[in-house]
This record gives sequence, C-alpha cells and structure tokens, in this order.
Amino acid sequence: MTIGIVGSGAVGTTLARGLSERGHQLTLGTRRPDDHRALEPAVRIGAFADAARDGDVVILAVRWSAVEDVFAAIGAETLRGKVLIDASNPLRYENGRPVGLETLAEGSAAQRVAALATGARVVKAFNVVGAGLMVAPQIAGGPPDMFLCGDDADAKRVVSQLCDDLGYPALDVGPLVRAAELEHLAMLWISLAMTGAFAKHAFKLLREPNRG
Ligand SMILES: NC(=O)c1ccc[n+]([C@@H]2O[C@H](COP(=O)([O-])OP(=O)(O)OC[C@H]3O[C@@H](n4cnc5c(N)ncnc54)[C@H](OP(=O)(O)O)[C@@H]3O)[C@@H](O)[C@H]2O)c1
Repeated sequence: MTIGIVGSGAVGTTLARGLSERGHQLTLGTRRPDDHRALEPAVRIGAFADAARDGDVVILAVRWSAVEDVFAAIGAETLRGKVLIDASNPLRYENGRPVGLETLAEGSAAQRVAALATGARVVKAFNVVGAGLMVAPQIAGGPPDMFLCGDDADAKRVVSQLCDDLGYPALDVGPLVRAAELEHLAMLWISLAMTGAFAKHAFKLLREPNRG
C-alpha cells in the first residue's frame, strides 16, 4: 500500500520504519524534514501535505493541540475518499504531564478529525498502545489486540490488514462513536505507564465467541 504518515514523533517514525520494512511505500510528513533524513531512502520525507497527498492510507499521528494547524496545512479536500487512521489522543496536560482528555464537542478526537477531514473514511487505531510496542510486539501473554473502530467496513478491513502486517490481531469494536472509549483506554494506558510499575503493558480482550 502507499501510506502517508502525518506526524514525525515516536508513533510516526516507528510506524514509518515498521511499515516500510514490511513492503509498503511510505511518506512521512513533518515541518522539519531535515531531522528525519536517516529514514531515507526507504521512507520519503516531506511536508504534512505531501504525506496526505501521497498515501492511499493516511495515518494521523500528531500532538492533539496541533491538529487544527495540521489540517489547515493539509487542505480540507486532500483526504476525501482516503482511509484516514486516527492514532491521536486528545491529552490534557498539567505541569507538562498528561492528566486526562480534552472535552470535545464531537465526543472524541476521531469524530473531530472526521469533521475536519472532509469525506475521509476515518478509522481509530494505533492509539491504545505505546509506540515502543507498535511493531512486532514482544510481550508475555501477547500478542496484544489492536482495537479499532470506524463507520466504513472496507476501511476497517484495510486497517486490519496493516495491523496484521505489524503483528497485531485487529479487534473491531464498532462504529466511530466508540472512539471515545478507545481514547479513554489510552489514558488508562498512560496512567499505568506513569506508575512505573511495568516494563511493558498492552491490552488484550479475553473472549469466547457467542454461539448462542
Ligand atoms: N507516543 C506514544 O507512545 C503514543 C501512542 C499512541 C498514540 N499516541 C498519540 O499519537 C499522537 C502522536 O504522538 P507522538 O508521541 O508520536 O508525537 P507527539 O510528540 O505527540 O507529536 C509530534 C508531532 O506533532 C507535530 N506538532 C507538534 N506541535 C505542532 C505544532 N504546533 N504545529 C504543527 N505540528 C506540530 C510534530 O511536528 P513536526 O513533525 O514538525 O515536529 C510531530 O509531527 C499524539 O496524539 C499521541 O497522543 C502516542
């Protein structure tokens, strides 16, 4: 697949490396292309708008406070019809530490993203696991599940395939309105990380199919 990653933090660079190593065509978007030349030539480095334009699938992985500016840079129509994976979490900080989620009129970051990205097929995914475990997760009791949600079944199939490529069974938890729960689950992941109790942690849903 051709994949554009909008964002060059831990998530963007980890996914860019992991997905390009698995045979995908990657463009990484950033305001600072010169900081990421080490990823070339496997990954094309460009502006946010280049990543949004190049990818048939686009992954949004920027700091929540920057989302409006990033969409202004991309242009509202660029993502129409594309699969847009929202990995962001709308974190609220106090004294530089994440303490909760922003309250958003749309109900979740993913729904806000869907409102900003006109016509994109938004799937929430890659938001409930730390970047360090996002590719080929090695953890006792694993692999963890990659929870995802969205309103477009075909888009969710595409994202499930990418999860599979990265070593994650995808678990579809329903329509995009479920994104709020996934964002709160991410906050729980962060709170647990801040306790320092675990070297690694990730979520997996234990379940049995309902055959009744
Ligand atoms: N870190 C994790 O383990 C993790 C796991 C799951 C989900 N997430 C979520 O994924 C998203 C990315 O997280 P991250 O840790 O990879 O990176 P981050 O540090 O949260 O964000 C880095 C990205 O945000 C962009 N950015 C920051 N301020 C900006 C501004 N004022 N204007 C435009 N762009 C700006 C940066 O642009 P440049 O490229 O130009 O520097 C960079 O691409 C966040 O929403 C986070 O909550 C993080």
